[in-house]
Amino acid sequence: MADFDLILTGGTIVNADSMVRADLAVRDGLVAAIGHDLGTAREVVDVAGKLIMPGGIDSHVHLAQGSPFREPHGPKVVMADGFESGTRSAAFGGNTMVMPFCLQQHGQTMREALAAYHALAEGNCYTDTSFHLIVTDPTPALLGQELPALVEEGYSSFKVFMTYEGMALADRQILELLDVARRHNALVMIHAENDDAIRFLTDKLEREGRVAPVYHGASRPIPVEREATHRAVSLAEIVDTKIMIVHVSNRPAMEEIERAQARGLTVLAETCPQYLVLTEQDMARAGMEGAKYVCSPPPRDTASQEAMWEGIEQGIFSVFSSDHCPFRYADVEGKLVPEGRDSFRHVPNGIPGIATRGPILFSEGVSKGRIDPMRFVALTSTNHSRIYGLYPRKGVLAPGADADIAVWDPSQRRTIRHADLFDGCDYSPYEGMEVTGWPVSTLLRGQFVVRDGALVGQRGAGRYIARPMA
Ligand code: URP
Ligand code: ZN
Ligand code: ZN
Repeated sequence: MADFDLILTGGTIVNADSMVRADLAVRDGLVAAIGHDLGTAREVVDVAGKLIMPGGIDSHVHLAQGSPFREPHGPKVVMADGFESGTRSAAFGGNTMVMPFCLQQHGQTMREALAAYHALAEGNCYTDTSFHLIVTDPTPALLGQELPALVEEGYSSFKVFMTYEGMALADRQILELLDVARRHNALVMIHAENDDAIRFLTDKLEREGRVAPVYHGASRPIPVEREATHRAVSLAEIVDTKIMIVHVSNRPAMEEIERAQARGLTVLAETCPQYLVLTEQDMARAGMEGAKYVCSPPPRDTASQEAMWEGIEQGIFSVFSSDHCPFRYADVEGKLVPEGRDSFRHVPNGIPGIATRGPILFSEGVSKGRIDPMRFVALTSTNHSRIYGLYPRKGVLAPGADADIAVWDPSQRRTIRHADLFDGCDYSPYEGMEVTGWPVSTLLRGQFVVRDGALVGQRGAGRYIARPMA
C-alpha cells in the first residue's frame, strides 16, 4: 500500500513567501507533505525544472452564457463562455478556481438570481467556482434580510457598478450596501467610472459623428475613472469599511488608491492584463477590428501601462485578475452586433483573457525580471484566496491545503494563439504575442485537469466553494 496518491518530484515549490526545491505529496485531494524522500506513491511524476505553484485563482470573471438575464452588454448580445468552456479555458491557463458574478436583475431577489446561476454551473465546471453577488436593485429586503443571510452562507463579496445603464447604483445606494458589508464583514468590489460623464461624452461624440470603436476610449477618459475612484474611496471612508476597486487602468486612479492606503484605509485594488499590454490604439484598428479590444475601463497608453507595473511592484495592487468577459468577434450576437456599427455605445464591453492572465503576467513580469515568482503567486492566487475568504484551503501549497496545483515551465516560449486557449470565443486580444513561461499541467485536488497540455479532467469535477467570512 503506497503512502500517497501522487508525488511530484524534482520541482521548485513556489508559495507567496517561499521558494524551495522539494517534492510534493498528495493524499485524498490534499497536499500531504512537502520535502525530500517522502515515501511511496501510486504515481510519481518527474517535474524537474518546473515551478510547482498553487493553482491560479481568478477572482474576476464573467461566465454568463445561457443566463436568461441581461448582463451589462444588453439583450441582443450573447456571452461567448458559460461555465463549461470558461472553466476549461481557465484550467489551460493554470487556474484551479474562478470567481464569476451572479447578477441580480431589477425586481429579482438575489436568491432567485443565485438559483439560476447555480443551475448553469452545476455539473459543468472543470475548476472550482465561487460567486460574487452583483447588486443592481438594493431593496430594503435585500439589504436588511437577504444579504446578511447570504453572507452567513458564504456569499461574502458583492460588486456594484457606478456606471452601465440600468445597473449603476446611486451614491446613497452604495452607502447603504457598504454599511451592510461593514456590519457583516463582506467585501464590496466597485466598478469605478462616472456614469453621467460617460453619458455626456458619448452623446457629444455621437453628435460629432465620432462613432467608431476607438471613441469608446474618448467616452471614458482617465478623469471619468479617477473621479469615481475618489468617490468610491470617500464613500467607503464615510461608512468606515473595506472595498476593492476592480480593473484599475491608469495612474491618477491608482494614486487615489495609493493615497487612501497611505492614510490607513483598507482600499484594495485589482488590475488586469489589458492594462499592461493593450492601448487605446488597439481600438483604432481598421474597420470594426477595434471592437475586439473594447472593454471598460478602456485600455489607455504606454505611460498608464508603466504606472500599472509600478502599482504591481509597490503592492498597491494586491490582485491581478482577467476580467474575462468574452464576446465572439465575427458574430452579430457578439462584437459585430449591427447597432455597434452605428456607435461604439452598442459594442459589448469586455474581452476574453481567462487563460492568458497567468502567462502574460509571468512573461512580462517574471521572465522580464519585474517581479519574482513568489510575487506572481501572490498576485494570481494567494492574495485572491486571503481577500475572498478561501485561505488556507486555497492559494497555498502546504500540508492540509487542497492540492490545487499549476505546473509551470518557466522557459517554455510560446506564441499566444486563440486555438490553444479552448474558450468559447473566436479570438484572443493577445493573438501573436510572444511569451516565455507557460502552465503545462493543472491539478484540481490532486487530479490532473490539464496534463502536458492536454485536457484530461472531467467536466463537473469542479465544486462550488462557499466563503464564510471569519
Ligand atoms: O468591459 C468590461 N470590463 N466588461 C465586464 C463588465 C465589468 O464591468 O466588469
Ligand atoms: Zn466592472
Ligand atoms: Zn468585470
